[in-house]
Amino acid sequence: MLRAEGLSRAFGGRVAVADVSFAVEAGEVVGFLGPNGAGKTTTMRMLAGLLTPDRGRARAPERLGFLPEVFAGYDALAVGRYLGFMATMKSANRAEVDRCLSAAGAKDLARRPLGRLSKGQRQRVGFAQALLGPPEAYILDEPTQGFDPAQAVEARELVRGLAAAGAAVLVSTHLLAEAAAMCDRVVVIVKGRVVAEERPGEVADLEARFLRLVGRSELG
Ligand SMILES: Nc1ncnc2c1ncn2[C@@H]1O[C@H](COP(=O)(O)OP(=O)(O)O)[C@@H](O)[C@H]1O
Ligand SMILES: [Mg+2]
Repeated sequence: MLRAEGLSRAFGGRVAVADVSFAVEAGEVVGFLGPNGAGKTTTMRMLAGLLTPDRGRARAPERLGFLPEVFAGYDALAVGRYLGFMATMKSANRAEVDRCLSAAGAKDLARRPLGRLSKGQRQRVGFAQALLGPPEAYILDEPTQGFDPAQAVEARELVRGLAAAGAAVLVSTHLLAEAAAMCDRVVVIVKGRVVAEERPGEVADLEARFLRLVGRSELG
């Protein structure tokens, strides 16, 4: 349902993503892991159709939910109105707004201006926006950043629920425990290249394998 086929992208001659291929099928949560600067966000933006690849091809359904790493809204707009606007953009039913606010735990934020929210609250609005549709596939770029531990657990359950309802979900995170708890598979990217694609297994295993893949030098 989501498919990266030999995606490559450079910025000013510096290669950010090199020949990346993987797929996410319906009903599956795939974790996208890698150190900072590995190319996760660049790959996800290409998959979402927001960035043109230099080479390769991205396939994603038209009804796609995207949570960007940095969620930009319109700070003066109330959350409810912002979501109403996004629902119109996505040709979603107005009733979707309430459903998505509730699902993202952001119902009590509907009247608050976006610019006055905490990082975690803002992230919940980003989540609500990504749920509008409802989409057939999701690309979530570090969805739990800014969340406290309880919110992170809720978000994890929400993500599992999306896949249980039949969606394909690609989610990046730098928390290996989160990946182990949430993902059916993980794709590991290092310096723009996919270096492993496997089941996450136990956290301790995943950590050991991740450190091997990334290399000690990355730890400074
Ligand atoms: N718009 C951009 N302009 C220039 N360089 C960029 C841009 N976006 C990303 N990069 C570079 O591409 C590489 C991969 O970045 P990114 O995809 O954000 O990695 P990750 O999400 O894994 O941390 C980094 O070296 C980053 O500095
Ligand atoms: Mg990133």
